[in-house]
Amino acid sequence: MQDLREATAYIQAQSDNFLPDTGIILGTGLGALAKEVEVAYSLDYADIPHFPLSTVESHAGRLLLGTLGGRKVTVLQGRFHYYEGYSMEQVVFPVRVLKLLGIKQLFVSNAAGGLNPDFEMADLMLIDDHINLQPTNPLVGRNLDELGPRFPDMFAPYDATLLARAEAAAAALGQAATTRRGVYASLPGPMLETPAEYRYLRTIGADAVGMSTVPEVIAARHMGLPVLAVSVITDLASPGRLKPVVLADIFAAAAKAEPRLTALMKAVVAE
Ligand code: HPA
Repeated sequence: MQDLREATAYIQAQSDNFLPDTGIILGTGLGALAKEVEVAYSLDYADIPHFPLSTVESHAGRLLLGTLGGRKVTVLQGRFHYYEGYSMEQVVFPVRVLKLLGIKQLFVSNAAGGLNPDFEMADLMLIDDHINLQPTNPLVGRNLDELGPRFPDMFAPYDATLLARAEAAAAALGQAATTRRGVYASLPGPMLETPAEYRYLRTIGADAVGMSTVPEVIAARHMGLPVLAVSVITDLASPGRLKPVVLADIFAAAAKAEPRLTALMKAVVAE
């Protein structure tokens, strides 16, 4: 708690106590939304006390404070993954800081492999539930009672109102055909899945698979924050469509979907 408070106090001091109402975490290859933000303050993670540092080149490592769609937002440009060697506590540190900064809702994006046979490359999937297959989670250990309860409920991890708004916004933007809904399975990575693992994940009810998001969502729900999370389908792992995954292809699919994701997120924030 002390570390969280020090990080929060630093950000407040650097930003004239800027009070964001929405927090946004940008996933792999999905940085374009940051360009839409009218940035008032930009802080390097390296300068924020106790903040972990990003080791993945595709993640920038900056915290932005500004306005998007007329709303005050804060953007985490770069997230932390368990596969980088961070503890789960470190992975969710920034999300907890955003909550202490005052956000009332959290938006998250990620790149994910598509397991549902109806999905196409560069589709967006609004996450409506998840399966946590990470080896541990950020709530293990002594509970931070100031943040939330020991046994948080997980009946509705993804906010129904935000999901409905996102679906309505997708329709209004002419994106209904490429905007799906489904269950996200989170694995530690960093290797992608074997064919048998992809089949297993489909069998247990997942529509997409990735290496992030669920730890942050667990921490957010622990603190009572409503969450909207969107996966960009960057590779297809459904039967008959699986092929070796090339990182460049993942970035290409993310780049293709990025304008749609950006427009959608901006529309929901504005609302
Ligand atoms: N598996 C796990 N993580 C991913 C994938 C995948 O197929 N695609 C993008 N992130």
